[in-house]
Amino acid sequence: MSTQTPDENKGRQRKVYIKTYGCQMNVYDSQRMSDSLDAQGYHMTDSADDADLVLINTCHIREKAAEKLYSDLGRLRKKRRKSGRDITIGVTGCVAQAEGQEIIRREPAVDLVVGPQTYHRLPQILQQVAKGEKVVETEYAVEDKFARLPLPKKDITRQRGASAFLTVQEGCDKFCTFCVVPYTRGAEISRPMAQIIAEAKKLAEAGVRELTLLGQNVNGWHNEGANGRKLKLGDLLYRLAEIDGLQRLRYTTSHPRDMDDALIAAHRDLPMLMPYLHLPVQSGSDRILKAMNRQHTAADYLRLIEKIRTARPDIALSGDFIVGFPGETAADFEATLHLVREVFYASAYSFKYSPRPGTPGAELGEQVVEAVKDERLQALQTLLTRQQQQFQQSRVGLVTPVLIEKPGRHEGQMIGRSPWLVPVAVTTQAPAGATVDVKIEEAKSNSLVGTGLAEVAQEPISFLSLDI
Ligand code: 5AD
Ligand code: SF4
Repeated sequence: MSTQTPDENKGRQRKVYIKTYGCQMNVYDSQRMSDSLDAQGYHMTDSADDADLVLINTCHIREKAAEKLYSDLGRLRKKRRKSGRDITIGVTGCVAQAEGQEIIRREPAVDLVVGPQTYHRLPQILQQVAKGEKVVETEYAVEDKFARLPLPKKDITRQRGASAFLTVQEGCDKFCTFCVVPYTRGAEISRPMAQIIAEAKKLAEAGVRELTLLGQNVNGWHNEGANGRKLKLGDLLYRLAEIDGLQRLRYTTSHPRDMDDALIAAHRDLPMLMPYLHLPVQSGSDRILKAMNRQHTAADYLRLIEKIRTARPDIALSGDFIVGFPGETAADFEATLHLVREVFYASAYSFKYSPRPGTPGAELGEQVVEAVKDERLQALQTLLTRQQQQFQQSRVGLVTPVLIEKPGRHEGQMIGRSPWLVPVAVTTQAPAGATVDVKIEEAKSNSLVGTGLAEVAQEPISFLSLDI
């Protein structure tokens, strides 16, 4: 716990280290927290060793993700004792929301626990901590946290690179029976369009070229437009496409039920919308989909995929899968493998079912034994890896625009992003932020290799000159 008063801290350069677990939204949240702390005079450091404040931004989605927290905290407690330094220790994110006070009970070294809905209160919370209080903030705030969080400075945005995240929707009302998100992130909210556009413009002015819109149900985003017309994600994408400097748009994560025709049409008509879609299905068995409360069948999903492919034939599809949901039989699992063969995924994430406290799935009988889960996960991953390799191999020989992000391992090599999200090691002299046409020459297991041909014309912007 910090014993210095804010006055004693004045003039001294304070440092914050934030360790982030979990999804892209946690990455975005960590950035917004660090922007808010920057305004309080805290500078980011990339190690806990010289930090005055350490925040662990946690994930609660599966058991393993949550377990890491307590081993991190134990290490931090020892580090603090050994160094004799005054380090404030905080837990934020979804475990903070789910466990609250229990975290301090298990690890008294923790000074503050803050859920995802109250990050904007961090400056006041730190003042309370400086006075010697322990603070737990897990109430859902009534005020709009996004309106209260400062936007990043231009130089900080540039340091983060040409591709940025922007949360447009948060929370979930779908209540899949395996999932903690409705309990940790709360009910679905959509940020107002004007607020999103203002943030996107600010990012574009600082040099961001690719924007990924985030939401636990991002395609459920909606606002009320003029004359009471309901605006949906497709409308938002069109508005964002008008922003000077932005060249690429993406969004994640989507629910099949909210994949409406206007959004699918945007994939056909909006060249800036990259040909990549993460559309989790979780299982290929109707019985399991029903038990998961997914509100669609395997056939519904396959029909949707067909529509999306008709609109954008070159789209790379990605998905999430859970094996070993309670009651899953060998035939149910076979149905999942069948669906995967039908779809052909460019990439995918698969997990063993992990019972989460407080979710309906955890209460079900017929939990699948660990050895069977292991076996099924391995079989599914073998199939998905084969599809991924086939997809990557099919890119060899193509010429494709790549957004350059950072220097590669070798001289004259840069790492960039293909339209399908797969990273590309490019031989080029082009700087970060440039888009280069690249001839793809080789497929590796998780990346592609190619040679830069011509830089695609765009407004020049230097990531090195920090003219703020
Ligand atoms: N067990 C295993 N995997 C889960 N996911 C969500 N909850 C669980 C759980 N209890 C997976 C889903 C989701 C992804 C983010 O994590 O596949 O789409
Ligand atoms: Fe993990 Fe879900 Fe929280 Fe993201 S929203 S950090 S995936 S529990």
